[in-house]
Amino acid sequence: MDYDFKTKLAAERERVEDLFEYEGCKVGRGTYGHVYKAKRKNGKDEKEYALKQIEGTGISMSACREIALLRELKHPNVIALQKVFLSHSDRKVWLLFDYAEHDLWHIIKFHRASKANKKPMQLPRGMVKSLLYQILDGIHYLHANWVLHRDLKPANILVMGEGPERGRVKIADMGFARLFNSPLKPLADLDPVVVTFWYRAPELLLGARHYTKAIDIWAIGCIFAELLTSEPIFHCRQEDIKTSNPFHHDQLDRIFSVMGFPADKDWEDIRKMPEYPTLQKDFRRTTYVAASTPSHKLHIVATYHLQKLLTMDPTKRITSEQALQDPYFLEEPLPTTDVFAGSQIPYPKREFLNEDEPEEKTEKVFNRQNHQGPYAPITQSLQGNAFREETAESTRQVQST
Ligand SMILES: Nc1ncnc2c1ncn2[C@@H]1O[C@H](COP(=O)(O)OP(=O)(O)OP(=O)(O)O)[C@@H](O)[C@H]1O
Ligand SMILES: [Mg+2]
Repeated sequence: MDYDFKTKLAAERERVEDLFEYEGCKVGRGTYGHVYKAKRKNGKDEKEYALKQIEGTGISMSACREIALLRELKHPNVIALQKVFLSHSDRKVWLLFDYAEHDLWHIIKFHRASKANKKPMQLPRGMVKSLLYQILDGIHYLHANWVLHRDLKPANILVMGEGPERGRVKIADMGFARLFNSPLKPLADLDPVVVTFWYRAPELLLGARHYTKAIDIWAIGCIFAELLTSEPIFHCRQEDIKTSNPFHHDQLDRIFSVMGFPADKDWEDIRKMPEYPTLQKDFRRTTYVAASTPSHKLHIVATYHLQKLLTMDPTKRITSEQALQDPYFLEEPLPTTDVFAGSQIPYPKREFLNEDEPEEKTEKVFNRQNHQGPYAPITQSLQGNAFREETAESTRQVQST
């Protein structure tokens, strides 16, 4: 490139630190980088933004193309990527999003803590329905545009605080899993944050080579269950996470314990999965209740909607389009655009983190010696419209050593 042109470009280039105030305002730390709450410096608007500094340096051609694509996405339930800054001095990539005061990770944590404090307060049923509806709506839009999320989990489902979009779901981090790491790269390479397997579909755990829409739907089923009970439905201790093998025995065991072991007719193509031989070697069908046993299905969830989202065979799993048509959304209480339905928001605002401290999410190191794990099994206690809870601990995510 021509030298003069290059200097001219550099002089004109907008720099994130010139335009935004965000120092000392870190609100989160995730797999892909650090998130800051930011405001414009020139006072052009009083709006709050989230600035995400992407881990690592530089950007590949394909990431660049993907970001251009993500910038085109527009839906009320998908977080809008407002701008991309490429900081030339340190080769850092910054993404500017609208700011969302809440997310499902913090909301669920709030309800778990209320149980621990002996003042149990479940998420209101209407709110759960509104959340699910909006998540499905956003995912349907993404899927219709052939964008797969690949990393749906409570932390990536944001909810807007007070303001014009009060109580609206915003799906975040779509496509990131492909953007910043190759799909076949061991997830554990993304240190220091442990990547959770709790929301991973069984076909991924059995070695499926490609992400699909059905994988996102499974994760939505897991999130729905967690909203109902404040417990991760497939909670699993996260040891052995540093393995490049997709096969994760304990996670599969957890899924089969809750959902039952799939009968041959439930999932015919399971035999074609790359890790099927390992499954046969390591698992005894008789240890589990058959998935097709109706009584078992019933006591998992009266909300049979969950069954459709958590169908083992990905080809039989409901699509987002079908799920949106479910009679559940036509029954009272009807879903609302403000998931808080106008009532007071009990959840605290985001706190600023100390620059050098890891987020609380990752700082409570799981004590392996004297603890079974933060969650007790809920398998046998699922009843009625929601699961009955058995534990009230608040540790959520575990950091690798
Ligand atoms: N637009 C936003 N507005 C406000 N907070 C946000 C926004 N985007 C992310 N956050 C918060 O910042 C924290 C870190 O986000 P980030 O997406 O980096 O990590 P994560 O969701 O925990 O993990 P992962 O990187 O695997 O998605 C989360 O608690 C998240 O809710
Ligand atoms: Mg995230």
